[in-house]
Amino acid sequence: MENNSLLDVQHLSHMFHLKRKMTVKAIDDVSFQIKKGEIYGLVGESGSGKSTVARCIMNIYKPSEGEIFYKGIPICKSKEFRKNRKMLQMTRQMIFQDSASSLNPRMKIGDIVAEPLRIYSGKGRPGKKEIEKQLELVGLDRSYMEKYPCELSGGQRQRVAIARALSTKPELIVADEPIASLDVSIQAQMVNLFRKLQKEQGFSFLFIAHDLSMVEFLCDRTGVMYHGKLVEEGRTQDIFAHPEHEYTKALLAAVPIPDPRIERQKGEVL
Ligand SMILES: Nc1ncnc2c1ncn2[C@@H]1O[C@H](COP(=O)(O)OP(=O)(O)O)[C@@H](O)[C@H]1O
Ligand SMILES: [Mg+2]
Repeated sequence: MENNSLLDVQHLSHMFHLKRKMTVKAIDDVSFQIKKGEIYGLVGESGSGKSTVARCIMNIYKPSEGEIFYKGIPICKSKEFRKNRKMLQMTRQMIFQDSASSLNPRMKIGDIVAEPLRIYSGKGRPGKKEIEKQLELVGLDRSYMEKYPCELSGGQRQRVAIARALSTKPELIVADEPIASLDVSIQAQMVNLFRKLQKEQGFSFLFIAHDLSMVEFLCDRTGVMYHGKLVEEGRTQDIFAHPEHEYTKALLAAVPIPDPRIERQKGEVL
C-alpha cells in the first residue's frame, strides 16, 4: 500500500444470499485507494453496487471476499475491527442520501449534532458553543439548535447531517448519493459546501453519485462502476476527456448541460 493512502480497498466482493440458494453478486473484485485529503467519486447506475461498497467500508457489511485497509488496518477482520472500534467510530463518518430518515425526528438539531461526540468521545456532551460552531461551519445559525428536523428543508437537513458527521473531526467521510434527492439548484450549493469543508478540514472523501454532473467539479479522481465491477478509474479530468469504457461514454453523454443549443446538438448525435 502506498504510504499516503488512507483507504485501500483490495479485491472486494460481496454476495447477498437470498432464499433457496439464490445469490446476488452485488460487487465483484473491486479495488481502489483513496489518499489522504483526496476526493474520490464513485459513480454508476442504480444497482451497480455503489452502496454495497460504501457499506463494506463502514463495516455495515462484512464482504464475502477481499479486504479493506483503513490506515493500514485490515478492518474486515472481526478482531481488528473490535480492537479499533472506537477509533473507527470517531474517524470515519457516513452521510446518506435521505437525510430526513437519518435524523431522529424527535430530537432537536442541537442534540442531533451533539450526539456522536456525546456517545463516542468519552468526554460527555459537547458544550453549546461547540455545537453552534459546528452548525456555523455548514451555514446554519444558532437558532437552528432548538428546531426539529421537520421544520427544515431537505437542503438544511442535509447540512445538519454534515455538521453531525464533521463533529468528530473525521479523517474519512463516505457520502452515499448525498445530493441525489435535492433540487438541482441546491445540489450545486451542497457541492460547493463539500469543497469548502474538505479544503478547510482536509478529510478524505468518498462521494457516491449515480450521474456525473457534479463529479467533474468536485472529485480529484473518479471510479466508474458497472454491474458490480469497477470498470474504469482515473483522474477525473482524464476520465472526462478520454473515457475508455463504453458505459462511461454513455454516462458522460447523459450529463445534463443546461444550455438548450448543446442539448439540441446532443439530441442529434444520439
Ligand atoms: N440487502 C440486499 N439483499 C439482496 N440484494 C441486495 C441487497 N442490497 C443490494 N442488493 C443488490 O446488490 C446489487 C447492488 O446494489 P447496491 O449496492 O445498492 O447498488 P447501488 O448503490 O449502486 O444502487 C443490486 O443488484 C441490488 O439489487
Ligand atoms: Mg445506492
